[in-house]
Amino acid sequence: MPELRLSIAQHYHERTKYDPETIASKGKALDWSKQPVPFKEYKIGSSVDLKPFIQQAPETFADDAEGQWWRRLSRLLFCSYGLTAKMPSMGSAVYLRAAPSAGGLYPAEVYLVSRGTPLLPPGLYNYQSRTHSLLHFWESDVWTNLQDACLWHSSLENTQIALVITAVFYRSSWRYEDRAYRWIFLDTGHLLGNIELASAINDYRPHLIGGYVDQAIDDLLYIDTEKESAIAVLALADLLDIKQNLPIGRTALPSATETEYPYIPDGQLLYYFHRVTQIHPGTTGNLNLPEIKQQKSLEDKYNFPFCQKIPTATTPIDWGTNLEKLEVTILKRRSTRAYSGENLTFDELKYLLDFTYQPQNYLDQSLDIHPDYFDLNLIQTFIAVSGVDGLESGCYYYAPQAQELRQIRFKNFRRELHYLCLGQELGRDASMVIFHTADLKAAISQYGDRVYRYLHMDAGHLGQRLNLAAIRLHLGVSGIAGFFDDQVNEVLGIPTDEAVLYITTVGRPR
Ligand SMILES: Cc1cc2nc3c(=O)[nH]c(=O)nc-3n(C[C@H](O)[C@H](O)[C@H](O)COP(=O)(O)O)c2cc1C
Repeated sequence: MPELRLSIAQHYHERTKYDPETIASKGKALDWSKQPVPFKEYKIGSSVDLKPFIQQAPETFADDAEGQWWRRLSRLLFCSYGLTAKMPSMGSAVYLRAAPSAGGLYPAEVYLVSRGTPLLPPGLYNYQSRTHSLLHFWESDVWTNLQDACLWHSSLENTQIALVITAVFYRSSWRYEDRAYRWIFLDTGHLLGNIELASAINDYRPHLIGGYVDQAIDDLLYIDTEKESAIAVLALADLLDIKQNLPIGRTALPSATETEYPYIPDGQLLYYFHRVTQIHPGTTGNLNLPEIKQQKSLEDKYNFPFCQKIPTATTPIDWGTNLEKLEVTILKRRSTRAYSGENLTFDELKYLLDFTYQPQNYLDQSLDIHPDYFDLNLIQTFIAVSGVDGLESGCYYYAPQAQELRQIRFKNFRRELHYLCLGQELGRDASMVIFHTADLKAAISQYGDRVYRYLHMDAGHLGQRLNLAAIRLHLGVSGIAGFFDDQVNEVLGIPTDEAVLYITTVGRPR
């Protein structure tokens, strides 16, 4: 029998797993002299200051249509990726942003492309979070190039503004080496969650575009593909303009599935993997994309015979008049550094699940009931419960369609969770630990190796909704992306085909 080679995404995943046997050899000492700066600087360009529009009272702009337009854009960017806290650190300061980031390294950059609106001349802008401003660094019209690079995605026909998120790889790989690729996309998923919700607050609707000619977008932004590359594009529809109330478009396109690759040395795997999952026009100029085999399922993936089923449907979280409590929550969100170990109530657990997985329940509050993901059918949710009143400790599968928890194993896993999360006390002391997983092989058969990006962004996006629901409920929450991959499945009884993508811990803050 010929040997079946793993595709590059499977190979990357296997190579970057943490394992108790080998983890000691992975942690190299950090070279602090090479610590990357998480901000982008431009030598030329003109700056648009967005600060006055969030600092001044909303009434200031009551009769000022231009001021209101700027205020919406300013709030959107601030709530998505603005600096929301300053922490003293080794004699200077570290700034934290509205979106969390593994290790506070912030590999993502946010760019804005304007088609040319009365207030925002055409061209390219970089969002400078340090000064909350937009830096206009390229003044020519590039919209047609953007449309071309996005394969004429329908949402770009009528919109005037697009956001492009890029990753500056070294910011994260400096610390996390090749495994950083996972973190980069999880971080970006959190950012996408903020963009989605901050858009709803400000009457925008982001249309997510994951399939584009990578090199063409990178060229358009004048970035060096080897160091920085586009990882998501969003057409930003202005819902106050009737022409921009658009149907939902296609978010994910497949790439090739690569099984022919050379030996790739450590430290280069991340870059190699990113390169081979790009979409590019073939030599003939035609895009040679494999067909997506749509497997839309309305059924929950796992149903274990005779397992106990616990219904979780509830009333929605109240986000206040005009979503003002959502905005406050986004701006005050922080990752919790320690839990007390006290129990959550079962109602709190239900609220968390409702906001994260049941967006259709938020229509009355003007939230998007079909927010864009790449493909949520590919992602499953498992929850290790260690301390929730009225719910036996153990591991459960969450069935989002049926809205119920389905028992897998009953046991208090606190000690094991501590170990699985690489000895982090957050895992041990959390009241519940949520695992997002995917069957990598099946996902690759649908979307090619590029699906690895989509899966991690979707998992991060769900993570951000969990974060915000937890903060709104005055609970503590933190992501964890460093874990013993295979042992999670073994210990908790999660099916072995399910690769663990991301962990979110929730508990009472200490
Ligand atoms: C993908 C991801 C992975 C993370 N992993 C961990 C982790 O393993 N342990 C931890 O204590 N915090 C973790 N965090 C939280 C970050 O340390 C935190 O977001 C960062 O320090 C910024 O602080 P803030 O979230 O309060 O803004 C993670 C966050 C993200 C987004």
